[in-house]
Amino acid sequence: MALERTISIIKPDAVAKNVIGEIYSRFEKAGLKVVAAKMKHLSRKEAEGFYAVHRERPFFNALVEFMISGPVMIQVLEGENAVAKNRELMGATNPKEAAPGTIRADFAQSIDANAVHGSDSLENAAIETAYFFAATELCPR
Ligand code: PPS
Repeated sequence: MALERTISIIKPDAVAKNVIGEIYSRFEKAGLKVVAAKMKHLSRKEAEGFYAVHRERPFFNALVEFMISGPVMIQVLEGENAVAKNRELMGATNPKEAAPGTIRADFAQSIDANAVHGSDSLENAAIETAYFFAATELCPR
């Protein structure tokens, strides 16, 4: 089993619902450790840069507007198979399709406001970590 690090973002809808602690509890129960964290109200430029790969998608503007509508909680999670484990905890992108007991099934209302983001690969986890954190902000391995 590989010890991995991945990015998780608790999105504005879940921060507004005051469920940061409940989501952290799920990470901890699944064996994922928080090794860096920051709360941030993203600027439009930061949100557009983060989702640049989706720039041509019809939902891009709505996604950016949503991500800057309030503060987000960004964390680096460490654990065995952290990328896949976090995605499993999150559930499907559309909460209506998310498995019962997942974060999105329990806390998200729609595909536009779906509570959490998680890196989809180890490669993107490294890119997204560098986007939000300086190396000195991470707990040493
Ligand atoms: S894809 O097709 O696999 O690339 O798309 P996906 O990874 O599922 O979605 C990419 C991100 O866009 C968000 N998304 C949406 N936002 C608003 N409206 C609609 N219809 C929509 N569809 C997808 C989705 O939540 C993903 O954001 P992150 O932050 O990565 O979860």
